[in-house]
Amino acid sequence: METRILGTEKKDIEEAARILERGGLVAFPTETVYGLGANALDPEAVSKVYEAKGRPSDNPMIVHISKPKQLYKLTRDITEDMKKLMDAFWPGPLTMVVPALPQVPRVTTGGLDTVAVRMPDNDITLSLINMTDEPLAGPSANLSGRPSPTCPSHVDDDLHGRIDAIIQGEACRVGIESTVVDMTEEIPVILRPGIITREQLSKVLSKKVQIDPAVFKRPDGGKKSEEKDRKKDGLLIADDDFKPRSPGMKYKHYAPKAEMIIFKGDPDKVRLAIAEEKMIRTGFGQKVGVLIYDNENPESAAHDFFAQLRAFDKSGVDVIIAAALSEDGVGLAVMNRMFKSAGYNIREI
Ligand code: TXA
Ligand code: MG
Repeated sequence: METRILGTEKKDIEEAARILERGGLVAFPTETVYGLGANALDPEAVSKVYEAKGRPSDNPMIVHISKPKQLYKLTRDITEDMKKLMDAFWPGPLTMVVPALPQVPRVTTGGLDTVAVRMPDNDITLSLINMTDEPLAGPSANLSGRPSPTCPSHVDDDLHGRIDAIIQGEACRVGIESTVVDMTEEIPVILRPGIITREQLSKVLSKKVQIDPAVFKRPDGGKKSEEKDRKKDGLLIADDDFKPRSPGMKYKHYAPKAEMIIFKGDPDKVRLAIAEEKMIRTGFGQKVGVLIYDNENPESAAHDFFAQLRAFDKSGVDVIIAAALSEDGVGLAVMNRMFKSAGYNIREI
């Protein structure tokens, strides 16, 4: 398949809209990461997204809308809490899981009776959705298991020849995917941490917000490393009986080609240990990439992380050694990605 590279002028967006209306696939920019779009209400188009990404079909898509009215094509139950979050955070990096209407194809929801919805903060993509006036299903536009794409060249590297078009927009401002919050019960539950934190949600709702325990749990339950290595070769890293509320949590994610190790503990000791490990590895002739972020600025780590993993892969790094950030606020979101990227290869110092 020929993959067209589209610009961001009106004629380009019109072309992208025509491709979507014909049931094709278009990669689109958002403030978080690039998405791979298909008409969310066209089951055949959505099936092609799973195929292009090599994504397991029980891992549901996020559906993107450009105006609150389009929510009524997806759900009927719009609660006061949802309205508060929409007012505070949309357009923006917050996804809400809500009950799905019967007409939402179950291929879009991964077979669930709920659907994940968000309004992205990107003018190009908002005008694309306005043009088709259909909700746009869009997982991150990477091959399944690879780091999420934060600029159009990452999408091209993974999906060239597998999708119809890529809209060549800007590099993504946030750099990690949206916060996913389950709004189907009285107490909202964060299924995937992001740049919008539990504290922010709680403040807007004036109530408690929980974090799904699966966010903190190693999906393999911390099994012996041989078993982990075996599972690392495939996409599945979880036990079959691991059933998180967000199906995506049980799959291998964000993996660079290089081996990756996370050093965790007292920051000064971690720095020393990283320097030592680097020396040893270099002595063995390995090319080493080091990631040490400012603990006080997890937003900047979020912005850099996926792009850096891809840059290390491109430059043929054999091993990536990273220092852990503290897991509060946005740090939790960064560490959630970092642990998965490293396949939970953590060295406590
Ligand atoms: O920032 C983002 O959210 C990006 C951009 C493109 O919008 N999209 C994204 O999509 O990260 P994706 O497919 O890579 O991740 C969607 C996550 C998965 O972990 C999936 O399991 C979860 O959201 N999810 C989707 N629908 C769900 C549902 N109905 N219930 C629970 N979790 C759901
Ligand atoms: Mg993804």
